[in-house]
Amino acid sequence: MNLSNNTILITGGAGGIGLALAEELLKYGNKIIISGRNFEKLRQAQNKFPALEIIQCDISKEDDVKKMVQEIQQKFPDFNFLINNAGLMKMWNIQKEPTNIKEQKEEILTNIFGTFQLTQSLIPHLSKQKQSTILNVSSVLAFVPMSATPIYNATKAAIHSQSISIRQQLQNTSIKVFEVLPASIETQMTTDMEKITGIQNNSPKMLPDKLAMLIVKGLQNNTFEIRPGMANMLYHIHRLFPSLAQNILRKQSEKILSKL
Ligand SMILES: NC(=O)c1ccc[n+]([C@@H]2O[C@H](COP(=O)([O-])OP(=O)(O)OC[C@H]3O[C@@H](n4cnc5c(N)ncnc54)[C@H](OP(=O)(O)O)[C@@H]3O)[C@@H](O)[C@H]2O)c1
Repeated sequence: MNLSNNTILITGGAGGIGLALAEELLKYGNKIIISGRNFEKLRQAQNKFPALEIIQCDISKEDDVKKMVQEIQQKFPDFNFLINNAGLMKMWNIQKEPTNIKEQKEEILTNIFGTFQLTQSLIPHLSKQKQSTILNVSSVLAFVPMSATPIYNATKAAIHSQSISIRQQLQNTSIKVFEVLPASIETQMTTDMEKITGIQNNSPKMLPDKLAMLIVKGLQNNTFEIRPGMANMLYHIHRLFPSLAQNILRKQSEKILSKL
């Protein structure tokens, strides 16, 4: 696909993988809009990269998503590239804390419903453009769950499945649907997990800027399912030896669960 002169919305774009993608895609001459819940974080990202446009939006809130969709359509008529990157990951020891409906809903609303609502609302606009792209950021945990994050794994499996469905449904349109399934990346999400448990991840973490470069390469090569680094290895182990792949993550989960 052509990676220049696009108008791109990156949800959760003020930090981590989203900001690294924004930085990388700016180099290719794209217009980038980033969104997120925390306005101050968005402003800081804009101070670092003044070309960025910002929109405050909590994608777990239906009305926020509706407002952002309107703003995008009105202010950015050339909008043609949606990156669904915003996400939350929480650890749950289901024996110690069997139900926490509020927080579990927040995780599901953000990772699944908000992402679906935003995508579906923007499809009519995207399909009018000559070339459009949707990139979903899911996770290798969509294939091989890490039991310490049970809701998160399920949400990413949902995003993986939805990516296949919409790719098929949109195959005769101008919209191409990509998915990236990273393994462990050095961001606030993994740092928070280590801080809470005091446990270091036992596999090396990829830096977000390296991931952003691999994603761009995948997009350029029309690789619709991008599995960077360790994610590809884990995916292939899982295809041949599912129990082995599950056991690799099980050990890490057991250590984490003992701290929750
Ligand atoms: N780090 C990893 O190891 C890893 C691996 C595989 C996949 N991923 C996925 O990569 C994506 C980015 O994560 P990251 O690692 O870069 O973590 P991160 O630094 O924590 O970034 C997550 C972003 O999502 C935004 N966000 C969270 N809830 C939101 C909501 N309800 N509405 C709007 N924005 C929201 C946050 O911004 P605000 O707080 O300002 O809202 C933040 O910018 C996520 O989908 C994650 O699941 C990460």
